[in-house]
Amino acid sequence: MPNMDYDIWKETELTEKYLSGVRGAIPLAKEQIELILRIIDGCNIKVERIMDLGCGDGILAASILQQYANTEAVLLDISEPMIQAARNKLAKYSENLDFVLFDFGESRWTEMVKTKGLFSIIISGFSIHHQTDKKKMEIYSDIFKLLMPGGLFLNLDQVSSSTDRVSFLFDDYFIDSLYNMYDRNGIGKTRQEVAEEWYNREDIGVNKLAPVEKQCEWLREIGFGDVDCYFKVFEIALFGGRKPMISGDSLK
Ligand SMILES: C[S@@+](CC[C@H](N)C(=O)[O-])C[C@H]1O[C@@H](n2cnc3c(N)ncnc32)[C@H](O)[C@@H]1O
Repeated sequence: MPNMDYDIWKETELTEKYLSGVRGAIPLAKEQIELILRIIDGCNIKVERIMDLGCGDGILAASILQQYANTEAVLLDISEPMIQAARNKLAKYSENLDFVLFDFGESRWTEMVKTKGLFSIIISGFSIHHQTDKKKMEIYSDIFKLLMPGGLFLNLDQVSSSTDRVSFLFDDYFIDSLYNMYDRNGIGKTRQEVAEEWYNREDIGVNKLAPVEKQCEWLREIGFGDVDCYFKVFEIALFGGRKPMISGDSLK
């Protein structure tokens, strides 16, 4: 199996840079998590079993577990340092957790996670955008199959801008956010240095961004109901849908 370009995430240095830098600077991150919890709450589903796909340090799973403490969770990531960071972050829930070191770009990935049954929620954060569009569709289709009827899929991800100018606005917005975070933490970097760091970040080259409208259409075609983009600010979008209770029915 050849190394894929997103294998860069296996490097400890990149994971540390992400967790101590970009992750903490994602604009409106707190609001995104509040919204995720609100959507879950509004779905009236029994949150028994969840999966965090491309979990990183498990920030999204941790937010759900904080609210639904007895839930079983599967956390899948391709990167050993990330899985280790998630183990540390979620140590207090360890009895209910399965960590899976695997590449969801490989078609066998579902075999690794479905042993204990279907999921009430599958969530993913800033991970699927490294896949080609064809692969994204396959992954969404796999996710649909892994959900129990009524189950919820939420993808908080980077999506494409409509034009280069809008993309520039997003970069500018993110650079300000990073700069302000460093400033708050007493890390003295000029805005120019932060901009250089942003434009030269390693993972930028492995992004394969797609418009959120198109991705919502794919979800509808697969059979998800109640598909929507619940939140969007420039290239950061929270979108998803639910697996209908009865095939073809949308949930209310
Ligand atoms: C930008 S980080 C996001 C981490 C976390 N979900 C968050 O919201 O902060 C992307 C994560 O996806 C993982 N990842 C990227 N491609 C993957 C793949 N094909 N299979 C499994 N994990 C993958 C990386 O190792 C990394 O932990």
